[in-house]
Amino acid sequence: MDSNNSSPWSFTLPSFLLCLSLCTHLCLGTNKLDENQSLSGNQTLTSSGGDFALGFFTPGKSSYSYIGIWYNKVREPPIVWVANRDNPVTDRYSTELKISDGNLIIVNGSQVPVWSTNLRTSSSGSSSMVAVLGDDGNFALKDGPNSSMTLWQIFDHMTDTWLPGAKLGIDKRKNTSQVLTSWKNTEDPSTGLFSLQLHPSNEYFIRWNMSFRYYTTGKWDIKNKVYDNVPELRANTIFDFIFVDNENESYFTYIRKKGITTPSRFVMNISGQVHMLFRFPS
Ligand SMILES: *[C@@H]1O[C@H](CO)[C@@H](O)[C@H](O)[C@H]1NC(C)=O
Ligand SMILES: *[C@@H]1O[C@H](CO)[C@@H](O)[C@H](O)[C@H]1NC(C)=O
Ligand SMILES: *[C@@H]1O[C@H](CO)[C@@H](O)[C@H](O)[C@H]1NC(C)=O
Ligand SMILES: *[C@@H]1O[C@H](CO)[C@@H](O)[C@H](O)[C@H]1NC(C)=O
Ligand SMILES: *[C@@H]1O[C@H](CO)[C@@H](O)[C@H](O)[C@H]1NC(C)=O
Ligand SMILES: *[C@@H]1O[C@H](CO)[C@@H](O)[C@H](O)[C@H]1NC(C)=O
Ligand SMILES: *[C@@H]1O[C@H](CO)[C@@H](O)[C@H](O)[C@H]1NC(C)=O
Ligand SMILES: *[C@@H]1O[C@H](CO)[C@@H](O)[C@H](O)[C@H]1NC(C)=O
Repeated sequence: MDSNNSSPWSFTLPSFLLCLSLCTHLCLGTNKLDENQSLSGNQTLTSSGGDFALGFFTPGKSSYSYIGIWYNKVREPPIVWVANRDNPVTDRYSTELKISDGNLIIVNGSQVPVWSTNLRTSSSGSSSMVAVLGDDGNFALKDGPNSSMTLWQIFDHMTDTWLPGAKLGIDKRKNTSQVLTSWKNTEDPSTGLFSLQLHPSNEYFIRWNMSFRYYTTGKWDIKNKVYDNVPELRANTIFDFIFVDNENESYFTYIRKKGITTPSRFVMNISGQVHMLFRFPS
């Protein structure tokens, strides 16, 4: 961590290179998984516009595999979400992602579940459940292909990356919140020590080991649309930030300004710094 820098929000411009071959894996050729399908080995799902892909990945020289989501049109694509971050598998060919008993689950080669969405399901669970990968990077479990009811979505279960359109806040009715948590290191996506979360006082805290708060954004300034300690947000020409606080929820979200379509994300990095990353349109 850079101790001279009082704000852990930094702005980085990586040079994303377009990958010529959009799909190097064996594709399922679809953006969804239904109850009769499973994904394993080199198979991937691709969002309908081709922006995001979901499948197994192996970080660096790790001997483990994880199911994750990455930018599909970028060389050495950054991983934006990891399912089984704390329960890696060693053999992606015998491991399967599938829908079972109303949940999305990952089972290893011995059919032992290593990850699950852990929804409490009713026996009357719909038989047409489907999990859809969207062009916003969200992967959502629904009770039917055209259902507007989302049963579970990765935007509520982020890992270290906050994508445009996702909410980072508190559901006051369910008393749940979204949390960004760093990877342990660049080759290990398991739950790291740094996390960013909204506090009921409407300030964001960055915590170390889920306890010690070493940074706060301060209060949201409604008039100037900025957090007291994050003036960088005001200077930007890329994103519009929206803060919502009502009886049901309070959250912060951001969208790309009109005309900006390039990959953009916030990441809690492994040293506890929040990076805002985007590529300028070429
Ligand atoms: C899954 O398979 C069963 C039995 O073959 C079939 O009745 C059902 O319609 C299939 N579901 C989907 C979503 O294709
Ligand atoms: C899976 O992808 C890897 C890396 O691209 C490749 O080496 C391997 O042969 C592929 N396996 C199969 C079964 O296609
Ligand atoms: C699946 O997980 C169980 C429990 O961790 C383990 O005992 C078993 O060896 C695993 N199977 C494979 C094929 O990795
Ligand atoms: C879902 O909506 C699409 C487009 O509106 C339609 O073509 C399709 O038939 C619908 N599927 C079901 C199961 O209703
Ligand atoms: C909400 O959850 C937090 C921790 O998850 C707990 O400390 C708090 O007491 C809960 N509040 C209510 C009203 O249940
Ligand atoms: C994090 O906190 C837990 C207790 O909440 C403690 O057992 C653990 O040692 C702490 N980790 C580090 C790296 O200090
Ligand atoms: C809060 O939730 C209730 C129940 O779903 C709904 O009727 C109400 O309009 C919501 N309030 C706001 C401000 O969205
Ligand atoms: C995390 O971000 C800080 C600030 O930009 C940077 O100095 C540090 O090298 C980053 N850590 C890693 C592992 O990328």
